[in-house]
Amino acid sequence: MSVKGLMFCFSCSEKDTLDLDEKLYTHFGLAHTRWATHGEPSAVNSHPHRSDKNNEFVVIHNGIITNYKELKKYLITKGYEFESETDTEVIPKLTKYVYDNRENDSITFSKLVERVIQQLEGAFALVFKSRHFPGEAVSTRRGSPLLIGVRSEHELLTEHIPVQYNSAHFKEVVQEKNSHNRPNCSSSEGDGKAVEYYFASDASAIIEHTNKVLYLEDNDIAVVRGGELSIHRVNRQAGEDPVRAVQTLQMELQQIMKGNFDAFMQKEIFEQPESVVNTMRGRICFDTNTVVLGGLKDHLKEIKRCRRLIMIACGTSFHAAVATRQILEELTELPVMVELASDFLDRNTPVFRDDVCFFISQSGETADTLMALHYCKEHSALTVGVTNTVGSSICRETDCGVHINAGPEIGVASTKAYTSQFVALIMFGLMMSEDRLSLQNRRLEIINSLKVLPEMIKKVLTLDEKIKTIAEELYQQRSLLVMGRGYNYATCLEGALKIKEITYMHSEGILAGELKHGPLALIDKDMPVIMIIMRDACYIKCQNALQQVTARSGRPIILCSQDDTEITKNAYQTIELPQTVDCLQGILTVIPLQLLSFHLAVLRGYDVDCPRNLAKSVTVE
Ligand code: G6P
Repeated sequence: MSVKGLMFCFSCSEKDTLDLDEKLYTHFGLAHTRWATHGEPSAVNSHPHRSDKNNEFVVIHNGIITNYKELKKYLITKGYEFESETDTEVIPKLTKYVYDNRENDSITFSKLVERVIQQLEGAFALVFKSRHFPGEAVSTRRGSPLLIGVRSEHELLTEHIPVQYNSAHFKEVVQEKNSHNRPNCSSSEGDGKAVEYYFASDASAIIEHTNKVLYLEDNDIAVVRGGELSIHRVNRQAGEDPVRAVQTLQMELQQIMKGNFDAFMQKEIFEQPESVVNTMRGRICFDTNTVVLGGLKDHLKEIKRCRRLIMIACGTSFHAAVATRQILEELTELPVMVELASDFLDRNTPVFRDDVCFFISQSGETADTLMALHYCKEHSALTVGVTNTVGSSICRETDCGVHINAGPEIGVASTKAYTSQFVALIMFGLMMSEDRLSLQNRRLEIINSLKVLPEMIKKVLTLDEKIKTIAEELYQQRSLLVMGRGYNYATCLEGALKIKEITYMHSEGILAGELKHGPLALIDKDMPVIMIIMRDACYIKCQNALQQVTARSGRPIILCSQDDTEITKNAYQTIELPQTVDCLQGILTVIPLQLLSFHLAVLRGYDVDCPRNLAKSVTVE
């Protein structure tokens, strides 16, 4: 499901429904952009789903209900007729069923929802509305993210919302500025000043309205009634936090606006000189050559004693792990495993209490990564989050971690988060190796290169026009191979992923060392090939690969070091890049491929920020 999809707003008035041609004076909106899991994208499968033609209960849902088939079968035997192919539709119908068969006439909306979710298996963030409970909306989650934004004309005087195990409300925490005795500001009490609540699965969906948010926990039931918010839980578990903190988001609206760019992805590519600085800010001291990651320092001793590091992630975040694996092995002197979260779980990979498991995720909400985190926690490993989203599930559920501070990333194809993850992981390696005498020269080389990295990125970005010209030559092709090895193999995987994601061309990242074991069969004069040949330990081996390609009439476009005449004479085209230390070079080689995929997608006429079939944050398994 799309994280920006689940959103609704509730403020104080009594109107509940509207006709299509009616002007919107309503107090309530309910919407969900759906990443189709059950049933094709179509009007009938769109949310909200309803219990019946009278809309007695309507529901939006982010997640997957895994036992929906059983529930549907049961409800059909009770005479319910289904309109859609979705799993979600069982929820409003089940709600009506439970409501119609209630024992007690005075059942509350939240109690009803509590009963319904007891029957649901799978992952969900839900918002309910009902004709039977006017002026009221109920929301709950299990396994899918859900936050509540609060906008008030008054100051919020508390930083916490108490969790109620029977009933209470938000009243005492919202008071008019400088008037501590005024009990509340809801318009239901007639002072005409509204409090608005926004339920969303991601903060960027609501930031234009408020920066005050609280994050719901699994099985919390949040109710907005008469302008007041209350949070309920069925039973209090031992060790459970009895409050939900109201946090102030640091995000600014302009950070999620496109500015002068045509697409968010393009803006995010061009933000990289600043976003990498934000990742390093306050963490690297270039005078003393020290690195301190505040979120890890208390666990450093334990990490240094561990058996191995396991990096677990999906998509682009996985590539950040591949990109930094070699340097982390060198700087930490520990074995480093890199794992795709889904495969890691499929294999029931052995995990031990002296393992340290990293969960790398831009959103901090990817279901596969989150499930791998739960798995590693069950095996008592130390868990470390590397996320871009403060307050996300991975951030909250790991023992410690690093925020990459790249700023909100909106384009579905991840760009600046990748380079910031890359930098954050290298900083972790630097922190781990501070007391290793034998590594001091290496550390210094890397720290000095990090210092000038933003300038180098700016230089790479000046190649945009040239890359656009190359895109004009390539955009009608069906396939594009990207080859390299060593520190630049991750760039091949990530570049090919970018091309696949937004241009819908077939693209493959190929380890140049594997060329002769299969991919060489694809090479002829018509197959477009991009090769990455930088001056590093793999230079000679990459030149061999180049010979193999040109000997088969291949016409490679080569990403190479500036002024490398040896390479340019064998290339069909070159993109010459500034040279940096080997382990950071991948940051400079990936940017031309980000730009290339962007221009290819534009030339092919596609929506760069919203590629078909993909979502920014995949909160379903
Ligand atoms: C989705 C996105 C990718 C992203 C992956 C992992 O598939 O489309 O761009 O790399 O999820 O996301 P995460 O938020 O965990 O980094």
